[in-house]
Amino acid sequence: FSKKDLTGYKVLITAGPTQEAIDPIRFLTNRSSGRMGFALAKTAYQRGAMVTLISGPTSLKPPYGVNFLSVTTTQDMLEAVLRHFPSVDVVVMAAAVMDFKPLYYPHKIKKREKLSLSLEKTPDILTILGKEKKHQYLVGFAAETQNLLPEAMKKLKSKNLDLIVANDVSGFEATTNKIVLIYKNGAYEKWPLMSKEDVAWRLWDRIKTFL
Ligand code: C5P
Repeated sequence: FSKKDLTGYKVLITAGPTQEAIDPIRFLTNRSSGRMGFALAKTAYQRGAMVTLISGPTSLKPPYGVNFLSVTTTQDMLEAVLRHFPSVDVVVMAAAVMDFKPLYYPHKIKKREKLSLSLEKTPDILTILGKEKKHQYLVGFAAETQNLLPEAMKKLKSKNLDLIVANDVSGFEATTNKIVLIYKNGAYEKWPLMSKEDVAWRLWDRIKTFL
């Protein structure tokens, strides 16, 4: 890899799902393989960046050369992200963060006819970063089952992002992804179906122009 165009930049990437425990045996989570975030970390390292990858539980091997931190809950991920945030140039939140957590029951819940769970909101990591950001370039992902573009545009604004990557939910757990990039000036680009590694490589081409 001759193109070391991210040399000198520090990037923080999140990947995978977070998990929220119901009881000692069970948890709630999101569908996410972690592949998109891992591909972003691997390609950033290949291009010379200093990379921290914060990931929820996945079956993937941490990419070579990357500072890898493993977390479980949304709160864990928030704390790990906030520790690194002040010193990085770019943050890409590719993690599928749990938006809700159940009230934790300390013993195994016994079988019964019906069970209701009461869920409360977890912190929105990107919204917090969007409020705190100074020099950092902030990139989010948006997965939607309908109205992909308008919903992604809303998130770009409400979370104060620089760029959002909108992906259809068909990319879940797959090795390919079909995305639309939306910039904060309203410009957007639709990309064809590509491998997640190619998406990652081209995303760095774009992000690079803003650093
Ligand atoms: O609002 P929504 O969860 O769909 O936004 C998706 C983006 O926000 C992703 O980049 C995801 O990593 C991030 N996110 C977050 N904290 C949450 C939920 C999502 O940082 N609690």
